Amino acid sequence: MESTKQSMDFQLPRRLQGLQPTLIRQFFERALPDSINFGLGEPDLPTPDFLRQEAARIATEEQNGYTSHPGLPALRTLIAEQYPHRNLPMTGVVMTCGSQEAMTDAFMCCIDEGDEVLLPDPSFPAYDACTRIAQGKPVYYRMPADTEFAFDISHFKSQITKKTKAAVVISPSNPTGKIMTPDDYRQIAEVLEGTGIWLLSDEIYSDLYFGERPRSASEFYERTIIISGLSKSLSMTGWRLGWAACSDARMMEAIQVLHGFTTVCASTITQKASLLAWTDEAEAAKAHAREVYKKRGEFLVKLFADELGLKATAPEGAFYTMLDVRSLGDDIEIAEKCLQNRVVTVPGVAFGQEAKGFLRISFCNTEERMAEGVRRMKEALK
Ligand SMILES: Cc1ncc(COP(=O)(O)O)c(C=O)c1O
Repeated sequence: MESTKQSMDFQLPRRLQGLQPTLIRQFFERALPDSINFGLGEPDLPTPDFLRQEAARIATEEQNGYTSHPGLPALRTLIAEQYPHRNLPMTGVVMTCGSQEAMTDAFMCCIDEGDEVLLPDPSFPAYDACTRIAQGKPVYYRMPADTEFAFDISHFKSQITKKTKAAVVISPSNPTGKIMTPDDYRQIAEVLEGTGIWLLSDEIYSDLYFGERPRSASEFYERTIIISGLSKSLSMTGWRLGWAACSDARMMEAIQVLHGFTTVCASTITQKASLLAWTDEAEAAKAHAREVYKKRGEFLVKLFADELGLKATAPEGAFYTMLDVRSLGDDIEIAEKCLQNRVVTVPGVAFGQEAKGFLRISFCNTEERMAEGVRRMKEALK
């Protein structure tokens, strides 16, 4: 008989080798006590009271077993209705544990070993990680810093090869706060039409916008998988409610099966309470969040100009701005100096080479805390 003895050393499977916690987390976890947090993208506004009350009622009055794997039919129907242009049946939506799970599931269901995935540079580092977990190869298209990180169709197009299996778009963007225009999406659709390439559209910030409501990529390109959730717009990060939605029935079937084996179902209490997430009360809470973040973004960009003499991108949505520190040196060193003076920021390079020389600043803080943060940055950078 052949020896079945294996090494006793821990061996990470090849597909997971090289996966690291993001620089966002690495900086946050080293924060000194009483730091001002410009680092994490976590809303500081309270979760609306009517949602808390409803969740408390559901937890105390009702039995909360599993829901079906893809989630409560009433909730899936409500979400399908958010994308009327796709005329989605309820089965076109799967509820997940936050949009992060929807994202991982979607990558796993469309990427095969060696497939190339087009990712924006800069963008949320999870796309790179999800591509690698699915054994794909990340290929970056530039959102050039010199045009305030606007979409550039010529570079996007130039990165497509025979191996391209999927492309990712995010709007409003983490980390830049920029929004894709309808023209950007039209150009993408024109390039992708007939190629079979999947478009993974991260729309987690779609309710947080400061001008025109952002459009969904799915309005322009049918083979789009929408990834979204309630974490950011209703300050529900810890409630873990997200979804994947797509008009391709086989894709949704695949996502549903994988989701069943990874998490079974999203929290039943959260799903039931989330039935209130599109009521007038909820829409008023989202509108309030938009107002607050818009005002804070303007306040912070002005403060950076007045106090530090530095330019930050004008946020169009989400709660991020990119502070241009290229005149001061290396972004990791600058973020480190800020960290030592009790201000958490994220070096731009955490999101891609195009953001090198920038700091991503999130404005999930009161104006008073942000003013104190900028004061500490000034002190650190003199
Ligand atoms: C761009 C982007 N997508 C997805 C997520 C995941 O959010 P959640 O899983 O809470 O829905 C985040 C969280 O920071 C994000 O910034």
